[in-house]
This record gives sequence, structure tokens and C-alpha cells, in this order.
Amino acid sequence: MPLLAANWKMNPTNVDDALDLVRGVMSVARGHADRIEIAIFPPFPWLLPVSDLLVDSGVKLGAQDCFWEKSGAYTGEVSPEMLKGLCQWVIVGHSERRLYLNETDEMVAKKTAAGLGAELGVIMCVGELLDHYDEGRSDEIVSAQVRAGLALCSADDSARLVIAYEPVWAIGSGRNADPEHAYKTMRLIRRIVGEMIGAGAARKVRILYGGSVNGNNVQQYVELPLCDGVLVGGASLDADEFAQIVRVTSEVYGQR
Ligand code: PGA
Repeated sequence: MPLLAANWKMNPTNVDDALDLVRGVMSVARGHADRIEIAIFPPFPWLLPVSDLLVDSGVKLGAQDCFWEKSGAYTGEVSPEMLKGLCQWVIVGHSERRLYLNETDEMVAKKTAAGLGAELGVIMCVGELLDHYDEGRSDEIVSAQVRAGLALCSADDSARLVIAYEPVWAIGSGRNADPEHAYKTMRLIRRIVGEMIGAGAARKVRILYGGSVNGNNVQQYVELPLCDGVLVGGASLDADEFAQIVRVTSEVYGQR
């Protein structure tokens, strides 16, 4: 089933606005839950109140990050063990964490394995910087990130593993990637995943596009043969815009 993931990042700043947004998502999700999986990723402090609201809604919940250890002296960190029971999903390796928190491929690999080990679904993000793109190095960069990020995973994890291809220059910039570029890179990702965990298991891994997706451009991505959904940032903070993304995605996959 395709996945529509809403990454709220560090928004909204108060719980009432977060719960209002959740109500908006729930009302649009109602008619589409049999066709697409919708997951929202609020900031950590809102996970508990949001999870209470989501009971029986069919909308899934995820965290925007996790640590790789189960417990211990790691000030400020949250483990996958703590998230399970509350969430079904976790995002790891988002480019903003790679950029602002200096997360390395090795850390992303440990987080990916830890999330899967705790039986969470894991969305592992990869994507090249603008310089890499301009230099024609997208394939090289993305391949290396996928290989490194999956280094500790096995074929058993494939059904809960999602890879989001998010060109860094497309995130929050309003400059969404050309669908042809997205398609070629997603095809490359699937091939590499196949090399790492076997072609059969790789078919179960879902691959998303992310980067300035909105209600007007989402169709070009979800129509791509290898695209299993989208990871949406800014546009997921506007209930009407997100509703449009849900409707278009549901319609496209409903016709498959
Ligand atoms: P954006 O963010 O949709 O605002 O570009 C996507 C993401 O960072 O996941």
C-alpha cells in the first residue's frame, strides 16, 4: 500500500494547533484509508496527545527521529523502545539532521537497525546536495547513502523499511525535482536495495519521493511506476493542502 507521510518538523509550537491539524488529517483520511497509508510525524512533545486523538482513526503516527540504544546515559535522546506502543513509524537520517546535527551515515545505519529491531516502520531519508546535483554526482551520493544506511539491515526487515529519496535542494525550497530525475534515482535505489538484501525482499521495500511536494505537483510523483508514495513537509501543515495531496494520491493509486 502506498504511504503518505507528513513530516511536521518543529511545528506547530503549541499542542492546540497540533490537535487541530490532526483533526483535519483525520477528516480527510476517513474516505481513503483502504487505499493509502497515512502517517503523521509531529514533534516529540505532541506524540502522546496526538496518539490519544488518533485511536481507531486508521491514521498512523511516527516520530521524526530516534536514538540507537535502548536505554542509558544518553541525555536528550529517545529510544525506539520508548516509541513503540506509541508510534508505528520513525524517520531517520533526514537531511536537516545530517546538516544541523552532523548525523553521519554510520549513525543513520544504527538508527535504522534500531528502529526496525523495535518493530517500528522506518523511513530512512537519502538525497544529494545541490552541488552534487549540479556536478552530476546524484547517483554516486545516493548510492553511497543507501549502502551505508542499510549496512546493518537484513531481508527480514524489508516490509517495514521505507526509503525516502529527498534531494536536499528540493526540500523546503519550492523547487521540486523533475519527475524524470526522481524516477531514475528511485530506480537506482531499488537496484541497490536488491543487491543488498535480495531482489525478492527489495520488492517489499517502499520508496518515496520528498521535496516541495504539494497538492499541485504530487500527481507527477505518485504516477511514477516505482514510487510508493511521498514524504511531505511544509504542505502537510496546511490541512486543505494536505487534503488535496491525499485525494490526488488516493485517486492515482486507486486506478492501479
Ligand atoms: P518539504 O519537506 O515538503 O517542506 O520540502 C520535505 C521533507 O523535508 O521531508
